[in-house]
This record gives sequence, C-alpha cells and structure tokens, in this order.
Amino acid sequence: MTTDDITREAAAADERAALEQAVTEKVIASFADSTTDRFGRLMASLVRHLHAFARDVRLTEAEWEAAIRFLTDTGAICADKRQEFILLSDVLGLSMLTIGINSPPDRAVTESTVFGPFFVDGSPHISLGGTMSAGAAGRPCFVGGRITDEEGVPVAGARVEVWEADDDGLYDVQYEDDVTQARGHLFSDEKGGYRFWSIVPSPYPIPDDGPVGRLLRAANRSPMRPAHIHFMVSAPGFRTLITHIFVAGGPHLESDAVFAVKPGLIVEFAQQPPGRAPDTDVMATTWYRAEFDITLARAEA
Ligand code: BEZ
Ligand code: FE
Repeated sequence: MTTDDITREAAAADERAALEQAVTEKVIASFADSTTDRFGRLMASLVRHLHAFARDVRLTEAEWEAAIRFLTDTGAICADKRQEFILLSDVLGLSMLTIGINSPPDRAVTESTVFGPFFVDGSPHISLGGTMSAGAAGRPCFVGGRITDEEGVPVAGARVEVWEADDDGLYDVQYEDDVTQARGHLFSDEKGGYRFWSIVPSPYPIPDDGPVGRLLRAANRSPMRPAHIHFMVSAPGFRTLITHIFVAGGPHLESDAVFAVKPGLIVEFAQQPPGRAPDTDVMATTWYRAEFDITLARAEA
C-alpha cells in the first residue's frame, strides 16, 4: 500500500465517521421539543449510547435482524405470569443497577435486591411464629429478627411478605395445581419482632425455556440462582423494602444469574439439634435457624 492509498483510506474513514455522527446528531435533535425535559433527556442519551454501541461493534445487518427477532420473541412469550423483558433486564444486570442507583445513599439501611416473577398478591396471613411452608417439601427452618428504623426504634405493625422455592427449587405457582405453599405475610409486634417457620430454601434456575434462556446458553452462562427467601417489608412512613436473604455457604452465591447477591444479605442458616424449638412442639428432627434484622429507610417527605 502506498502512502497515497493510506491517506485516501484515512480520509474515507473520516468521512464515513462524520456521516455516521451526523445521523446520531440528527436523531438526538429530533427529541429536542419533547413533551417533557426528562423524556427528551432520556431519549437523547438512549440514542447516543445505542448508536455508539452500533458503531463500536460495527453492527452487521444480520446481527441487527437477529436482535429484532430476539426482542420480538421476548415480547411474544410475555403473558400474565411471564415477564420476559424483566427477566432480560435481570440477566443483563440492569435491574440491580437501577436498584443501586435508586437506593438511599445512607448505607445504614437493609439493602434491596430484585423482586423476581414469583410474588403473588393476597398471600395467606401467618400469625407470629406460625408456619408458612404449608406442606412444601424442605428442611424445617425458623426465621426471625427485628425491624427498626435507622435510629434503632422498633417498627411495629410492619407487613412482612415472604415467599420461597421448595426443596425441588420450585415456587408453588410453578406447579400445575392451585396449592399455595411457602408464601405468606405477617406483621411485626410492638418491639418490631417478626418470626415464622418455613423451610430452608434451595437453589433453582430462573425460567430458561424462552429467549432469555437462549441468551444464557449462547453465553455459556448458568441460569442458577443461589438459595434465598424473598422479603417485602412495608410500613407507613417508610420506603418499601424488597430484598432476599441468601443461605451462607450455599452454591451459586458468586454466580447468581441475576447478580442479586449482596454480602449484607447472606445469612447463616444454623443447624439445630432435635428437641426444644421456638413457637412449636419439640422437634423430632434437625432444624435450622436464621436471624435477619431489618432496618427500614424513612420515606422521603
Ligand atoms: C426470583 O428470585 O424469584 C427471580 C429473580 C429474578 C429472575 C427470576 C427469578
Ligand atoms: Fe426467588
């Protein structure tokens, strides 16, 4: 290649880059009169980053078509009980990033994590110390703690929703029958205390029979989530906390398919011998105990 050829090629590349940039600027400008400033800002930034991505990878038309097909399949599989777009956001880490961006800057409160697709409204009420497993298979486990504000003042009457997968890694809603198991809600007592019997949770794969599963397989990524119990805690005057507790020492803590593990949410499920146990008859078998104190953030005025 001569020096002239190199100069000509560089000039052509510059011209192409300028044309590409002009498209980006024109599209960004098209959002300048948006109905709200926030919408205009969101769209301008989205276009800037989306175009930068296409330029960065030199996106081929075949890849563009594959991406459109993927998003079309993602929409097509969505139904009342299946939200594949949220699952996509989860495996791309966007859900956890958004939770982080919106969490209170004060680190003294219990951390949030993903909501997941298996919450059901209208769960059974459980009395304090009652059982929420309702026959779900698993090793018995007593979970309890105290709910306070950031100053350590008890939060009485907080509503605690809990739900979890059984020993086979399945939530009740994943079975064909209509049985409600391993979910419920209870209210904290005057001292902010809450406690319930359930089962030690098991690891399980996120739903991977759709487009998101295909994406994970193409990336050689595991669909597995570490064992956890979901919590949603709400009380007047406080931000609703959506979180999990994870079983300390369990598999997949380092490779959660949805990046939801935070060190402060990993809890010891300590093995206990048969015999006396709280809020129940004498236990004939080994049981487990997990303690999880919860600090709620005050809602912004
Ligand atoms: C869950 O823990 O229930 C879950 C969270 C994110 C994606 C799939 C499942
Ligand atoms: Fe879960």
